Amino acid sequence: MAEKSTVLILFGATGDLAHRMLFPSLYHLLCDGLLPEPFHIMASGRTRMDDAAFRDTIAEALKTYAQAELLDEDRIAGFLERIVYCPVSAGDEAQFAALAERARSLSTGPVAVYLSTPPSLFAPTAQGLAGAGLIGADTRIAMEKPIGKDLASSKEVNDAIGALFPEEHIFRVDHYLGKETVQNLMALRFGNRLFEPLWNSSAIDHVQITVAETVGLEGRVSYYDGVGALKDMVQNHMLQILSIIAMEPPARMDSTAVRDEKVKALRSLRPMEPDSVRTHSVRGQYREGAVGGKLIAGYAEELGKPSDTETFVALKAHIDNWRWTGVPFYLRTGKCMPSRQSEILIQFKPVTHSIFRRNGYGDALEPNQLIIRLQPDENIRLCIMAKRPGLDRDGVKLQEVGLDVSLAHAFANERRRIAYERLLLDLIEGDTTLFVRRDEVEAQWTWIDSITAGWKESGQKVVQYAAGTWGPSAGIALIERDGASWYD
Ligand code: BG6
Repeated sequence: MAEKSTVLILFGATGDLAHRMLFPSLYHLLCDGLLPEPFHIMASGRTRMDDAAFRDTIAEALKTYAQAELLDEDRIAGFLERIVYCPVSAGDEAQFAALAERARSLSTGPVAVYLSTPPSLFAPTAQGLAGAGLIGADTRIAMEKPIGKDLASSKEVNDAIGALFPEEHIFRVDHYLGKETVQNLMALRFGNRLFEPLWNSSAIDHVQITVAETVGLEGRVSYYDGVGALKDMVQNHMLQILSIIAMEPPARMDSTAVRDEKVKALRSLRPMEPDSVRTHSVRGQYREGAVGGKLIAGYAEELGKPSDTETFVALKAHIDNWRWTGVPFYLRTGKCMPSRQSEILIQFKPVTHSIFRRNGYGDALEPNQLIIRLQPDENIRLCIMAKRPGLDRDGVKLQEVGLDVSLAHAFANERRRIAYERLLLDLIEGDTTLFVRRDEVEAQWTWIDSITAGWKESGQKVVQYAAGTWGPSAGIALIERDGASWYD
């Protein structure tokens, strides 16, 4: 019997994300022989064009965005042959019917739908598919962020999609979960005996999570203004990192066990109270400055009007559970920072008693640090104290040294993959582990809403910082007030 054919229907196929990430990822998967066969891609967007014209745009995109070592004319031709294009506008039943007919002519097996569209089109697109009879027992749907702009609106999106698809067929995308480096956090924590006994408030002083970007608005003004760093980065990517760092060990590496633990951690985040929001959060907005020697216009200048949208946020969070009580989690993210840098610092407590104190160096004992760098390079550094060589007569002299592992070096022969390769493959294969479950996204919004409510109630405004700096000085004071400092 012939193999059942799989179809991926991609809405928003003419958009930037599709060209930069999704098509190159699918091409890479094809090159690696990882796609099921037969496999077809049905691309859809509002623009009217035929298959040939659309394929030309993808051929161009691959030349720019696919990994150079995988570019090969025959393979590209073979990839393009699998793509058909169907113009569809939300609400146009005839176009949905035509799309459905074409999809049925291609697919005898699973259908995966990927919504790379503005969120306002999620529900109308899903309803259009339902109206055209295209949602079957084997249909899955993936949605890009943002899922809503607060808890109430995320529930509306979840209700609308949930009315048409069971939860196990809904794939909410957070591309950070597709990053090898983020998956590696689980490997580090649960694939090693070393860290877990110390992974709690008895040994850890605090945790820092930094996601710094050098880019500014990148022409995304209409999306970004009114959204800001808290909703654009913290609600999703940073809370995903936080939940993986903070979660209890899941019993198994499966979608239910992993996501159950993440949700428990997110639900333990202490809501921000209006009277603590000023000491626990800083909002910043970049003004003109220079990043990497390049002059950058200020946010408001680029926008063309004053705005209270934050492009930087620093937060002090608490997780109220047995493991983490008393351990602050400091989060910061910003645009137009001096360097692109995503990292996690686990700051351990000092040794309980220093036997080196007598020699005058005891006070300089540095508590251990574990630094997990996610971007741009991937490495892990454990800072430990070591004896400095020498025959010092006034006692042993210690100095901090780093045990460094560069994962790029350790796995030098492995191709570094785009995060979307993993996510698209999991969507096609039906594995939801690296996607965000409804209760997870709602737990994220619950905490974020407590912060925005606090900002509103306290009237907390953005503070300016020069582009190319690490944010407003209040962001530094937020952590230094507690006797710590940001890891740079
Ligand atoms: C997106 C945000 O989700 O993530 C962008 O909307 C941000 O504002 C981007 O620039 C960062 O992703 P990455 O993979 O470059 O760290």
